[in-house]
Order: sequence, then C-alpha cells, then structure tokens
Amino acid sequence: MPTLILADLHANRAALSAILLTPEARDCGSVVSLGDQFNYGPCPAECLAMLRDFCEEGGRSLTMLQGNHEERLPHLGEPALRGVNWALLRWSAEQIGDGLLGLPKDVRLMDGRVWCTHGTPGDPDHLVDEEGVRAVLDTLPDNCRLLLSGHNHIRWRVRHAGREAVNPGSAGMWEDSPGCTAPFGILQNRDDGSPSVSLYTVPYREEDLLCDYLQSGCFHTDPVIPRIALTVMRTGSRHTMLHYIRHAHRVAERMGGDMGEPAVWQAADASWPWADGLCSEAFWARLESEHRQLCE
Ligand SMILES: [Fe+2]
Repeated sequence: MPTLILADLHANRAALSAILLTPEARDCGSVVSLGDQFNYGPCPAECLAMLRDFCEEGGRSLTMLQGNHEERLPHLGEPALRGVNWALLRWSAEQIGDGLLGLPKDVRLMDGRVWCTHGTPGDPDHLVDEEGVRAVLDTLPDNCRLLLSGHNHIRWRVRHAGREAVNPGSAGMWEDSPGCTAPFGILQNRDDGSPSVSLYTVPYREEDLLCDYLQSGCFHTDPVIPRIALTVMRTGSRHTMLHYIRHAHRVAERMGGDMGEPAVWQAADASWPWADGLCSEAFWARLESEHRQLCE
C-alpha cells in the first residue's frame, strides 16, 4: 500500500487535518513524518494525537523521525536555548511531554531502496539546498534510489546519477507558495519494484490557523516566531524563517553575545524588517481583536 510522506509539520493542525482528509492520504497503509513535527505552530499535542488516531483507526503504521527541533528536546535547560525566542520551544515541549523523545534520525524503506531523513543522513540539522543534495545522493549505499528529506521547508525533486532526492515541502510552513497550502507526498512501488513519490498540495483555511494561534497560548508565549510563521503562510516569503534566524546570528555576533541571551533576540526582533506592516504591532492588535470574536 502507498505511504503518506509528511515533512516539517510544525504543529499546524489546520494543515494536517486537510492532508489527512484527502483520498490520497486515506488510501495509505503507513505514514512517515520526516521530522520537525512540533514547534513554531500552535497545536503540538493535537497534531500528535491526530496523527496517532489516523493511524490507529486505519490500521496504519506511523514512523516519526527526529528533526532539528526534536533534536533539541534533551537540551532545553542548556544556555544556548535559554533565550527569549526559545520560550516557544519550551512551551511546545511542555505540550507534548515525552511524545517525541528518542525518535530515529533515519529510516530506510523498501529493502533499503528509500532513505528517509530530516536534513541529511545522520544529521537532522544539516541544511542543504537543491545543489548540495546532489553530493548527498552520491554518499548513499549502492542499492538506495530515493532520498526523502525535509528541513528546508521548500519542495524539490532533484535527479542525479540515477538517483532521486525529494523534499515534499513543509506540511505546516511551506515557504514556497503564497496562501495556506499544505504539501505532502505519496510513496509507492512502481511495477518494476522501484520507488516512486508523487507530490500533492491541499489548501486549508487561514482562519483556522489564526484561531489555533490565538487560542493556544503559543502566540503569547513568544509572538515573534508565530508572526514569521503567519507571514510565511500568507505571502509565501521564501526562506523567511531561515533569514530571520540568520539575522539573529549576525546580531549576536555584532553584540558579542550568543543565541542564548534574551537581549540578542530582542535586538534581532527590533531590527528585523517586518514586511509591509504585516507584522507590525498595530497589524497584530487589529488581527487579534478581529479574530477573538471569530474564534470564540
Ligand atoms: Fe522545520
């Protein structure tokens, strides 16, 4: 039976719900989630429960991999993760309890012909682009034909030296398309036994995501990341999240501080060029008052 491939769900219940209602997903006998199941989004516990219910009800197997966010779970008390912006990570971790501890970094399917990982094999936090993934394909075992990965939040399909690398795009934070659209993949065996992955997208309602943000407490724990997440989903601003994190790194260097210091994140937030007033305080105040009524 086909396998549903999800990447970078990031606790987006509206996106996950839309995906799981598609006939393509419902035809699947198993689910593989390529890491970053939680953080950034408002519904970490609800998404885990939804995934588990979907699999239990349909007799499907569920495999979740370790993303760079799950990789941080055992280190939440360390100085590098004490800064203001990591408050959201700690809030998210409290919601899920031990539900995402000890996940594997990689899993191989179809007798080793498919390698599933988050960043690159063995390293959930290793970020490669469409060029860099060609070199990764060269390192795979001889019988491996297909690499499935996430982490970048953008979709690609790269063919190189008789192999293929596919990133389905982030289910919860797709940074490659305007509007609230959730991407996913379906993995199947071709008639000749070789693996094949088809890519899909399904729209979901921005209002549902906004209500989840406003009702979850996530937005008030640390508004910066939710603001960026919503900007990404409204505008399709490519790599907005990565740009923001890199900006914070540069601010830390200029200040001679490190990413664990709240002052670094406050300075990064103050100097970030929020697009078109979309993320201004006035914009958020209006949005919140409008949606409070809608969500109640
Ligand atoms: Fe991610």
